Amino acid sequence: MQIPSKIFSIFLLLLSVEFFSCIPGTKFDISKRNLEPVFIPQIDGAADKKNRYEISGNEFVISTDHPLASRAGIEAWKAGGNVVDAFVSASFAVSIVRPQSTGLLGGGFAIVHFPGKKIRKAFDFRERSPKNGKAELYVDKDGKPIPGKTLNGPYAAGVPGMIQGLVLIQKKYGKLPLEKVIESAIGYARQGFPIYSDLARSIESNWKHMNPEMQFIFGKENRPLREGETLVQEDLAKVLERIQTNGDSEIRKGITAEKMAAYYSQFENYMDANDLETYQVYESEPISGTAFGKTLLTMPPPSSGVHLITILQTWNELNQKKSLPTGEIGKTINLTEAMRVGYKDRSDFGGDPRFTNVDVSKFISDEYAKSEANEIERKIVSGAWSNVSGNLKSESYNTTHISILDKEGNAVSSTQSVNGILGAKVVVPGTGLILNNTMDDFSVAPGVPNLYKLIGSEANKIAPGKTPLSSMSPSILLDEKGKSEIVIGAPGGSQIPTTIINTLIRYKKDGYSLYESASYPRLHHQFQPDVLFVEPELKSVFPEANLPFYKVQYIRHRAKVFAVAREGDKLIGVSDPRGEGIPLGF
Ligand code: DON
Repeated sequence: MQIPSKIFSIFLLLLSVEFFSCIPGTKFDISKRNLEPVFIPQIDGAADKKNRYEISGNEFVISTDHPLASRAGIEAWKAGGNVVDAFVSASFAVSIVRPQSTGLLGGGFAIVHFPGKKIRKAFDFRERSPKNGKAELYVDKDGKPIPGKTLNGPYAAGVPGMIQGLVLIQKKYGKLPLEKVIESAIGYARQGFPIYSDLARSIESNWKHMNPEMQFIFGKENRPLREGETLVQEDLAKVLERIQTNGDSEIRKGITAEKMAAYYSQFENYMDANDLETYQVYESEPISGTAFGKTLLTMPPPSSGVHLITILQTWNELNQKKSLPTGEIGKTINLTEAMRVGYKDRSDFGGDPRFTNVDVSKFISDEYAKSEANEIERKIVSGAWSNVSGNLKSESYNTTHISILDKEGNAVSSTQSVNGILGAKVVVPGTGLILNNTMDDFSVAPGVPNLYKLIGSEANKIAPGKTPLSSMSPSILLDEKGKSEIVIGAPGGSQIPTTIINTLIRYKKDGYSLYESASYPRLHHQFQPDVLFVEPELKSVFPEANLPFYKVQYIRHRAKVFAVAREGDKLIGVSDPRGEGIPLGF
């Protein structure tokens, strides 16, 4: 029998990869990561690098994108709060200390899990298109997208849901009064905090686009504030105080709502008082799939949790196939091909389930994973591969994630955002609040890529009241008894699901520690562009010559993972060394 040449060349490659991986020093060495210096405030236990990004505790652990946000979570817990109080406190705080990533006029998703009380909830408090947010607004008379309209300025914003979401979750599942869980954030806004390098870069590079009110807050003497200078947000402190008194009525019909409506009266009432007043937080059950033989809870559409499940389940099916390559190349192929399936579904079908049919039960079924894996096997064995070029612009970090776990297995996993760096670069006068630019998460026109080079279909077209498709996929892996074992999520646009998957595979399958798994260089494929994005440290493991099936681009990934896991009696918290976050706990 003649062996097809493609298969023969795969086996030659396997031999060479296995050979090279035997040479000492060719395996990726975690201690050689070239980390950028980060801002480290004086918090106990955060002094050296290992402690900086990893912590272990027995009672409670939180991992967030900023030391002060983690501290706010700890403060709520120590005040007698539960995981939800800690989550809400950290969320308000992170909105203040990471304005480049998230904010009170942004939105997000959260999974809340209290196993003892059998509570599993998914909250969608993401931005919605206002009633006047119609597709025609963003294209010219020839149907071409108007450059920048979904990115900067008043029309880039969706109706925000952050305040409404946090207040509702706190009311339903928190123990502390709302005033208490907003206290830390007020302190950070009023007293200010030192500007760290990522924030300084974000302010500098977006200075030109900011409206005058925003330049006033983020500048001094007509220039951007610099690293080490103090960012004080007094108007924001006042908004927070009014939320302490009024709850979410503040953004629905309070002074903040009035100021928003007054601002928008100059812009055709694109977003009006009624949009703010009638905003609804959506509450549902999380969706679940199988990962590593266990149950993974994640967020339903319009999150990409559903595709995260497809990828993990398809990857698992591919791993069972005897006819496919093994070793490092085999692992790469299986993961990449599974990613392609999930991201193709996302781009073809992803959208707000209230407006379009997303066949969740199909995408999370075993049959679907099996049939996709069979198809991939057929293509590999017959040599029917395709290669299209493309590229993904690397950019700074934004969006944020909070992972919290206590010793009872109670957990919250939440990803929050204003979308692009510093959102729409507009501060609503008199509030200190920055508008999101989440309208860019819609597909402005079919086939036109967004900020993250993601392409969408009609399913994600702008329509009044609609929620844009999101990559944010907060997740919780359960143990055999249904307790939370790993709480995980990430910011990073299109790289969010693949970052979660890379980390889980390193941790649960390859046996790395949680810290190593978060640090380990990642692979990312998002269907279009048809490119395998590989972090540079893996070049020694996967030289391009060993991956002839893919167009490979070695590039630093923008996503950062935040994870907390239970290992026996211990809770381990990790924040990604690619960023400025920190886990805290005891
Ligand atoms: O919801 C989404 O998919 C985006 N707004 C998330 C943006 C993001 O993670 C940016 N991070 N680099």
